[in-house]
Amino acid sequence: MLLRRLLLRNHRNYAHLDISMEPGVNVFLGANGQGKTNLLESVAMLALSASPRARREVELVGPVAAASRIEAEVESSGRRMELVIALNVEGERARRTIEVDGARRRAVDLPGHFRVTLFWPDDLGLIKAGPDQRRRFLNQLLVQVQPGYARALSGLRRILEQRNSLLKRIAAGEAAADQLDVWNAELVRVGTEVVDARASAVNELAPEAARCHAEIGSGERLEIQYLGPPEDMAAAVHNSLAEDLRRGSTSIGPHRDDLRVLLGGQDARGYGSQGQQRTAVVSLKLAEADLVARRTGERPVLLLDDVLSELDLERRGALLRHVGGGGQVVITSVDVGPFPPDLIANASIWNVEAGQIKACG
Ligand SMILES: Nc1ncnc2c1ncn2[C@@H]1O[C@H](COP(=O)(O)OP(=O)(O)OP(=O)(O)O)[C@@H](O)[C@H]1O
Ligand SMILES: [Mg+2]
Repeated sequence: MLLRRLLLRNHRNYAHLDISMEPGVNVFLGANGQGKTNLLESVAMLALSASPRARREVELVGPVAAASRIEAEVESSGRRMELVIALNVEGERARRTIEVDGARRRAVDLPGHFRVTLFWPDDLGLIKAGPDQRRRFLNQLLVQVQPGYARALSGLRRILEQRNSLLKRIAAGEAAADQLDVWNAELVRVGTEVVDARASAVNELAPEAARCHAEIGSGERLEIQYLGPPEDMAAAVHNSLAEDLRRGSTSIGPHRDDLRVLLGGQDARGYGSQGQQRTAVVSLKLAEADLVARRTGERPVLLLDDVLSELDLERRGALLRHVGGGGQVVITSVDVGPFPPDLIANASIWNVEAGQIKACG
């Protein structure tokens, strides 16, 4: 997988950017607030359809117009493609238009054309933060490798909205309880699709994450377990009716899933030291890139945002050995400090300053 060329128009602090990227390691250096994360975010959007961090799409649009555009030339299995994500601000919201080779696509149909593994400082919360961050980890992986997953996920969101609003109307005496039957069936049907995909992804991730963790963490045992809905989801949904009506929301389903991370058999969140938790996160990310490569036959573009400075020498080494694996890598950092000299010698180096990027060797 290769990102050949990237054009940004009025995207965050980039008024106008046009860069052609090299296949190997690309290092983007710049002081705080110059646009390093914004750059990686735009590349990740080409893989995921949406920003992995912005809550509202209008945040992405720069100050010089009511529209922004991300355009890229990518190469997958030797085939070149042109991808476009355009945003047009309309009142409080932004309307998104997506094109692949000039043809309009729905947001759920973009992922899979261009694949990335993103690792940024927020990911250190994979262990510490709540379950939604771990669900997001699985979702961002699966939309890229499993056709139909993005569609199932967006279907699930719609089903939950409908079901929750019906629950409230039933509780208020404005609708009959048997109207739920169709939504219960949909929840179980689409939910099962999501659950099956997550369960098999975790099964695949587990051995590679464990291998990587044992290597960096001197033999310590990392286990990951998928915590999904009860096996008989239909019965569980049925039995939760009284509770759901009381809460006005759906208590059973993959929207409540989690991923349990265990170190030496103990819960990593409570038991792991800071360093052990970091090792576990690096291991999960490397396992993610590996799964993408195995399932698609092609390494994803590795996007590493300012993570080297957060890792000690051993963890940095493990990550960079992976980086040496041959795929394209985009790394940001405030300075060259954390990079081994031989990596810098073979990398393309870029300077990021106030929304402008210049090649410097
Ligand atoms: N929609 C927008 N329009 C214009 N500027 C924006 C927009 N959104 C964010 N910015 C600005 O972009 C600048 C660069 O942000 P970015 O997060 O990319 O910095 P960075 O180089 O990653 O910095 P750090 O090293 O601190 O992580 C910030 O000053 C931010 O305020
Ligand atoms: Mg940043």
